[in-house]
Amino acid sequence: MKEKILQLLYDAEAYISGEEMSHTLGVSRTAIWKVINQLKSQGYEIESVTRKGYKLINAPDLLNKEELHYDLHTDFIGQEIHTYETLGSTNQEAKKLALEGLRDGTVVIANEQTAGKGRRGRSWVSPPGTGIWMTLLLRPDIQPQHASMVTLVAGLAVCEVIREVTGLEAEIKWPNDIVLNGKKICGLLTEMNSEIDYINFVVIGIGINVNVAEFPDELKGIATSLLLEGGQTYERKVLVKRILERFEKYYKLYLETEDLSHMIDAYQEHCVNIGREVRVSRKNEVLIGTVKKVSDKGELIVIDDKGDERLIHSGEVSV
Ligand code: BTN
Repeated sequence: MKEKILQLLYDAEAYISGEEMSHTLGVSRTAIWKVINQLKSQGYEIESVTRKGYKLINAPDLLNKEELHYDLHTDFIGQEIHTYETLGSTNQEAKKLALEGLRDGTVVIANEQTAGKGRRGRSWVSPPGTGIWMTLLLRPDIQPQHASMVTLVAGLAVCEVIREVTGLEAEIKWPNDIVLNGKKICGLLTEMNSEIDYINFVVIGIGINVNVAEFPDELKGIATSLLLEGGQTYERKVLVKRILERFEKYYKLYLETEDLSHMIDAYQEHCVNIGREVRVSRKNEVLIGTVKKVSDKGELIVIDDKGDERLIHSGEVSV
C-alpha cells in the first residue's frame, strides 16, 4: 500500500487528491492519510493543500522496497528485495535466505553492516546511510567452473553505472575492485554453494562507498568514496536501480555463452590493468609482467619477462 501511494505521488504531475488516491487504490481516505503521515515521519516532504491534495516535494535517499521498486526495469533481478536497517553482513543473510529457497534474482540490502565481509577474511567497513551494501542471490544453470566470471559481470555493471550517474571516471581493477583515481570505491565478494557439477546458488556481495565522508586511518590511503572524489553526495537508490538493470542485461548475455564474449570489449575499455605492469602473488611465485588483455573467460593474460603469455585466474594484483 505504501509502495502504491508513493508511486501515485511520484507519477502525479502536481497535486493528487486524497479522494483520487482512495478511489484508485480502493481504500478509505483515512487509510491514505495515515500512510502519508508515515511517509512524512520517514523524511518525505509532502505538501498538503486543501481542495488540491498532496504533492511530493522531496524524497529522502532511503533504501526501502517502495523506493527501490519504483522505476526499476528488470525481469527478475530485484523483483524480490529484502531490506534491513542493520545486518551483520548482507552476504550472510543472502546465503541463509538461499538455503530457505528464495528465488533467483533476490536482492538483500542493508543501510548498515556491523560485520561486513571483505575478500580473504578481511572486514568491510559499512557505516549507516552512506553506502550501498547489497547482495544478489543467483541460481544460474551453468557449469560451476564458469561461475567466477559472474564477479566480472557485476564489476562491469557497477563501473559503467558509476560513470554514467556521477560522471566520475571509475575503472575496474581486475578482477574484483572498482577504483577512482587509484583508490578503491567498490569491492565485490562472490560466494558459491555447489556440487561438483551443479550450482545451488551464487551470492554476489557489492559494497560501494557512496557518501562515506571519512575512512579509518588504515584505509585512508587506499579507499575513497564518490563523495570524496566528486565533491557532492549521490543518491544511493538511483545507483542501486541502475546497477540492477545493467547487471541483468549483462548477466543474461553471460548465461547465453557462459563466458564474457559479449561484453569483453566494454570490460577492457574500463579495465585499469591493461597495458600496465602487474605483480601477481600466487601460491609459490611472484609473477611480474605486463597485462595484454582479459580473455573471454575472464583470465588476465600477462606477458612475463621472457615474453611468454601467462594466464592468471585469480590472485592478488597490484598495479
Ligand atoms: C572486498 O574485499 O573487496 C570485497 C568487499 C565486499 C563488501 C560487500 S558489502 C555487501 C556484501 N556483504 C558483505 O559482508 N560483503 C559484501
